[in-house]
Amino acid sequence: AKDVIILAFESSCDETSVAVVKNGTEVLANIIATQIKSHQRFGGVVPEVASRHHVQQIIRCTDLALKTAAVGYQDLAAVAVTYGPGLVGSLLIGLMAAKTISWAHNLPLIGVNHLAGHIYAANLVKPLKYPAMALVVSGGHTELVQVSEPGEFTILGDTRDDAVGEAFDKVGRMLGINYPAGKTIDQWAHEGQDTFEFPRAMLEEHNLDFSFSGIKSAVINTLHHAQQVGKTLNKKDIATSFQKDVVEILTTKTRWALEQYPSQQLIVAGGVAANNGLRTSIQQEFGSQLEVIFPPLRLCGDNAAMIGAFAYIKYQKQQFSDLTLNADPSLDF
Ligand code: KG4
Ligand code: ZN
Repeated sequence: AKDVIILAFESSCDETSVAVVKNGTEVLANIIATQIKSHQRFGGVVPEVASRHHVQQIIRCTDLALKTAAVGYQDLAAVAVTYGPGLVGSLLIGLMAAKTISWAHNLPLIGVNHLAGHIYAANLVKPLKYPAMALVVSGGHTELVQVSEPGEFTILGDTRDDAVGEAFDKVGRMLGINYPAGKTIDQWAHEGQDTFEFPRAMLEEHNLDFSFSGIKSAVINTLHHAQQVGKTLNKKDIATSFQKDVVEILTTKTRWALEQYPSQQLIVAGGVAANNGLRTSIQQEFGSQLEVIFPPLRLCGDNAAMIGAFAYIKYQKQQFSDLTLNADPSLDF
């Protein structure tokens, strides 16, 4: 059969990314332009700033992706794009680019759910085996998702408040770490001592939902209290205790999910999947029981290759969109 080469766009948050993916498994190019530096001084992503960056970067990234992959528009089978969830202004830039190319080159358009993309990043490592369990942990999401067959998702657990990456970033901000703080907390967590007790929210409730605002507030209160009484706390110890608790919550809920839904594979996806403490804990807990896939770091954060990987599933099912495809900021499965 002829190779299916898909040009994919991702612009849901603060990375502009364009990729070329072959048959849903092979990355021919994965260009990622990050804007983190422009947002750092604001302590988080500023939507208006993000949209402007996407406008400035997207054509350059497209040209570079095609050049890197050594393919032309005539080699493409389809154009794919993230249409949600994410920042509406940012999503619109990717949509506009993808629709323009789809129209100009008469290529089918495939709208991709960003979360499905994060899960299918695993397909770029090893083919998915069904049913698969996915733990999606990012700056905007904390979800346990069952993938019963290609492209069929069921959310088993969701966050009731903050996403786990958001909790890392907010705690990090209190510790004086630049946005995004996850990576530095992860480093500190390996240098400090586990000396603090924070509440391990939702472990007393036997369900698969998450809540991270309690532990986040506990860390912030501990810091405020110390400040008031003029005590300095060891920030690395706080990072250690915080990360240990978060990892325990994620690992425990994943264990409960696997007990209820026997799975062939466990996929850990999203930016927080880069966390070393989480990787170690998940591997130790489940590594001997089923195949555990952590996409490599470059495929854990936001990137268009994962969008191209999932687009291939929709391509096979002929699930195409027309030019009325719109951004859906709160898209779910
Ligand atoms: O998936 P992603 O790149 O963007 C979203 O879709 O949200 O995830 C970004 C999040 C940020 O909150 C960042 O702090 C977190 O991933 N992160 C980490 C680590 N590396 C990135 N969190 C914990 N440990 C890490 N090593
Ligand atoms: Zn993401």
